[in-house]
Amino acid sequence: MAVRRLAEDQPGSFAFTPENVVWAKREIGKFPEGRQASAVLALLWRAQEQHDGWLPEPAIRHVADFLDMPHIRVLEIATFYTMFNLEPVGEYFVQLCGTTPCMLCGANGLKEVCRRVIGPQRQVTEDGKLSWLEVECLGACCNAPMVQINQDYYEDLTPESFEALLHDLRVGRPVKPGPQVDRSCSAPITGPTTLLDEGLYKGRANGRAVAQKPATPKPAAKAVENKPAAKPAARKEQPETPAVALASPDRPKSLDAPNGGIPDDLKKISGIGPKIEVLLHGLGIYHFGQIAEWNDENKAWVDGYLKFKGRIDREDWISQAKTLVKGDA
Ligand code: FES
Repeated sequence: MAVRRLAEDQPGSFAFTPENVVWAKREIGKFPEGRQASAVLALLWRAQEQHDGWLPEPAIRHVADFLDMPHIRVLEIATFYTMFNLEPVGEYFVQLCGTTPCMLCGANGLKEVCRRVIGPQRQVTEDGKLSWLEVECLGACCNAPMVQINQDYYEDLTPESFEALLHDLRVGRPVKPGPQVDRSCSAPITGPTTLLDEGLYKGRANGRAVAQKPATPKPAAKAVENKPAAKPAARKEQPETPAVALASPDRPKSLDAPNGGIPDDLKKISGIGPKIEVLLHGLGIYHFGQIAEWNDENKAWVDGYLKFKGRIDREDWISQAKTLVKGDA
């Protein structure tokens, strides 16, 4: 393991914000009497989040005092776990996996991009936007090569797509985490090989069963007896999702900021999770009312831009949004 030292330039002091003090006390309360030190990782993590993504030495002492622990013990923990950054990082901190599967799939090309676009490891760009570090396996080997940027994974990268990603982050353009090629999660890159029967997916809309034709009967077992195992069905050619321009008359109206500074909880729409909510915010969409007003062109634009392949329709976001606008559960 590499030697990890504290940054030379340290702030004079650190203290949790009042909100974080409340949070920390609640966190400590989760542990039985005498075991409060068990909250040390959570508190160090929160301190790092509060301090622009890195842990200065005064923060380590602050957490130790908070937990009534010797400073040296908390320093040992902070310097042992590589998830704690001991020196400043960029607004977008790139952790680039250089372990064997990613290396074999092209991580060295991504490193070249980092060196050219960002500079040496651990160095923050002048605009404060980017810094990078090579790390060991991040557990997404089947989508290699990949990087983690802040909390998100970006997978199936090429030097070109990675450079474009860094550029988009730098200029504040919305980006989509996950695979950067046309595959879902960690499904085979050549396309699905199981659960290919479309009948499996018919007859359900928005979680409700609807009338459907009876499923095509399976061939009689006898027909497949003594036959060699069937090869996986060839992947059906999917039409390429057209590139969708950000500036388009079909793009739905966006807001610079949520009305009254408070966005609606878009996750109340079944099908929208935290990541999609962030993407929608990036498009200036903060309120149920905005989604409720989408026309067919708007819907198709968002679907195409996010490469959803009809998901907005399948999950019926617009009806859900209209219901939520009315205040119905
Ligand atoms: S080797 Fe890169 S994620 Fe596992």
